[in-house]
Amino acid sequence: MSKKELIEKLLERGLLLAPDVIDRISEETPLPKDEKLLYLNTDLLDLSKKIEVNWEEFEKARALLEKKNDSRAYNRFLNYISEELEPEKKVKVMKSYEEISSKKEVRDFTLHFNVRFNALQKILYNRDELKGTTSISRVLAKRDRERVSIIGMVKEKRQTKKGNLMFTVEDPTGEIKVLVNQNKPDLFLEAKDIVLDEVIGISGVNGENIVFANNVLWPDIPMTNQLKRSDEEGYALFISDLHVGSKDFLGKDFDRFIQWLNQETGNERQKAIASKVKYLFILGDLVAGVGVYPNQEEDLTITDLYDQYNEFVDLCKKIPKNIQMIICPGNHDALRVAEPQPPFTNEFTKCLHTLPNTTIVSNPAVINIHTSDDFPGYNILLYHGYSFDYYVANVDSIRNQGGYDRADLIMKFLLKRRHLAPTHTSTQYVPYTDKDPLVVEEIPDIFATGHIHKAAVSKYKNVTLIAASCWEGRTDFQEKVGHHPEPSRVPLVNLQTREVKILRFGK
Ligand SMILES: [Fe+2]
Repeated sequence: MSKKELIEKLLERGLLLAPDVIDRISEETPLPKDEKLLYLNTDLLDLSKKIEVNWEEFEKARALLEKKNDSRAYNRFLNYISEELEPEKKVKVMKSYEEISSKKEVRDFTLHFNVRFNALQKILYNRDELKGTTSISRVLAKRDRERVSIIGMVKEKRQTKKGNLMFTVEDPTGEIKVLVNQNKPDLFLEAKDIVLDEVIGISGVNGENIVFANNVLWPDIPMTNQLKRSDEEGYALFISDLHVGSKDFLGKDFDRFIQWLNQETGNERQKAIASKVKYLFILGDLVAGVGVYPNQEEDLTITDLYDQYNEFVDLCKKIPKNIQMIICPGNHDALRVAEPQPPFTNEFTKCLHTLPNTTIVSNPAVINIHTSDDFPGYNILLYHGYSFDYYVANVDSIRNQGGYDRADLIMKFLLKRRHLAPTHTSTQYVPYTDKDPLVVEEIPDIFATGHIHKAAVSKYKNVTLIAASCWEGRTDFQEKVGHHPEPSRVPLVNLQTREVKILRFGK
C-alpha cells in the first residue's frame, strides 16, 4: 500500500494525520491484509494519538472524500474531526441520520409502521395502567364483558350521531372499535385531540368488537423526569430560519446579533453573557432556497443557491470562533424535504464545511452538549418543525388556543405522543425499516425547533421547549398561510440554572 493510499484509508476512517506524522510514514508502509486490523496496528494507533487539526490538511482531506462522493464516509470524517480532535468542544452527535439510497417499496412502509408501533408500544408498557395489556385479537375473542387494556395505532376517527367519539385502532393482531363517551368530559376533551396513526393505550370494558374507554394513555414524558443542572457556566443560543437570499432577510438585525456576540454592543452584563455563550444552534432554513413555492424568485435578492449558502457562511464566519455551532437543515434548504433530512453534504452546501467550529447534523437529530467530569451533558432534540403546519390545522386545542402563535402547544402535543410527526400525512418521510427516526425514543433535556418564525419558550415535564424565531420579515406567502412572524428574537438558555430568556435584536 502506498503512502497516499494509506492516508486515504485513514481519512476514510476519520483519522487525519498532522503533516509531521505523515512525513514519518515511509513510502511503502507494510499493512495487515485484513483491513479490520488496521486499527489494531499499534504503530498506527500511536500515530493517530498525535493527530492535531491542521486546517490545510483538513481541506485536502475534505476534498478527497468529496471526490469519492460517499456522503457517509464524508460525514463520519467531519463528525470525527469535530468530536475527537476538539475535545474541549463538548458537542457530541448522539443521533444524526444519513441518507439511505435504496429504492423504497410498499413493504418498507409496512415495516416502518411496525417498527414505529413497537417503539411506542415499548414506551407505553412502562405505564402501570397498561401492565396487563392484551392483544386486540384476544379482546375480540372474549365472550364476557370485563376490564381490558389494549395498545393500538389509530386507524380511523369519527363522531357518532349521538356526539360520542368512535375510533378504530389496530395492532399486529387485529383491529377494534373504541368508544369515548361524551359523558366523561375530561377524557372526551383529551380524546378530541387524538390524530390518525398515533399510538395510544386504552383501558376500558369490552363489548362486541368494541372497547368502551374509561381511560386513554399516551406514551408521554413521565412525571418523574428530572431537571438536570450543570455546575459549569455557559449559555446556549437558538436561531432558525435565516432565509438568506430573501428580499426580506433582516441583515441589519442579524448584524446587531453578531455585534453582541462579539461583545461590541450591549451593557456590561449583556457583554458578560455574550462572553459565556458556548453553543449556537441553527435549526434549518439557512437560506431562502430557490423554487420552494410558486413565484418565489420575486421574493429573492440572491437567486443562486450557491450564492445564498456562500452568503450564509460569510455571516457565520463573523461569529466568534469559541462558539460551537450546530446546524441542521429545514424545508427551504437544498436537500430532500422528506424526513429525516440528511446532513448537508451536496454540491450547493459544501461551503458549510469550511466553518471549522461547526457540527452539521440531520433534521431531526440529537446532540449532547456541555459534559464535564461529573455531568452527563444535556441532550438536545433538534427538529426544524415541518410537521407543525398539519397540527395547527387539524388539532382543535392547538388551533383554538393560538395556532401558529403557540409553538409550545405543538411541541407538548408531539412530546406527549413521543413522535415528531405522528400522522402519516403530516410530513414527508423516508421509511426506515430498522427504526423510525421521528420517534422520540429518549427524553431530551431541551426540545428545540424553528419553522414557524415566532419564538416561544416553555417547559413540559422538565423538558425545556424552545421555538427559535427567524431573520426574515413577514412575506406575502406567510401572510397567506397564517403565520405571524416575530423576527430577530433569540432564545438564550443558561446552562447552569436552566433559565431561558428571549433576546431581541429587532428595532
Ligand atoms: Fe421552515
